[in-house]
Amino acid sequence: MSIISVLNPKGGSGKTTISTNLARSLHDRGYSVLLVDSDPQGSARDWHATRDDNPLELIALDRPNNMKTLGTMAANYDFVVIDGAAKLEDMIAACIKVSDLVLIPVQPSPYDIWAASDLVDFLKARQEVTDGKPQARFILSRVVDGTRLGQEIRTALDEYALPVCTTAIAQRQVYPQTAAEGRTVYEADNGKAKDESNLLTDEILGVLNAARREVA
Ligand SMILES: Nc1ncnc2c1ncn2[C@@H]1O[C@H](COP(=O)(O)OP(=O)(O)OP(=O)(O)O)[C@@H](O)[C@H]1O
Ligand SMILES: [Mg+2]
Repeated sequence: MSIISVLNPKGGSGKTTISTNLARSLHDRGYSVLLVDSDPQGSARDWHATRDDNPLELIALDRPNNMKTLGTMAANYDFVVIDGAAKLEDMIAACIKVSDLVLIPVQPSPYDIWAASDLVDFLKARQEVTDGKPQARFILSRVVDGTRLGQEIRTALDEYALPVCTTAIAQRQVYPQTAAEGRTVYEADNGKAKDESNLLTDEILGVLNAARREVA
């Protein structure tokens, strides 16, 4: 079982969008997946409740202390995807502690990247005492299609010395449109969105598999 957290204290960076699409993507590949809503705001819960036939299992765990029980509770799943809360430091810390991989969606603006500074500091401090666990990756999120990333974005990201996923998630209407129906891009007719989501899942599985091979 692997635990993947999608975290960023900055609101609106795409955490819930990436969590729900990633969870669905893993589910469609035949894995058993538990989606965890760690945000008291309850967006993933609202998303899930929008329809009766959501194939994903979801639980709410919005108290940091309860996060410790996740490993045992979810032992029978292949993947747990945690949709992170904005701002709640204790919750973010608790998610980092239980995770194998932390994904940090950031919008391509230096302000958004700088806003991740405390999260990155905390992550690195954790990695130092745990021999590198959890792994972490930035994901560029809500990137306007066709724009080239400016040098200021690359410089801001480089400063963190943390890997960035090759696959970026573009700003596309299909994300909010499908979310409004409790769905994901996998149930929409938008090849570009499906392709980028699939590539991101491939990359994430690659990171987790590489880590497993290293341990073995
Ligand atoms: N790739 C995208 N393209 C278009 N709209 C997007 C995209 N990603 C997210 N959005 C929209 O932007 C808003 C914020 O996204 P989302 O809720 O996923 O962010 P969040 O980080 O979970 O926010 P919060 O911190 O409030 O939990 C939502 O309305 C969502 O539908
Ligand atoms: Mg959210």
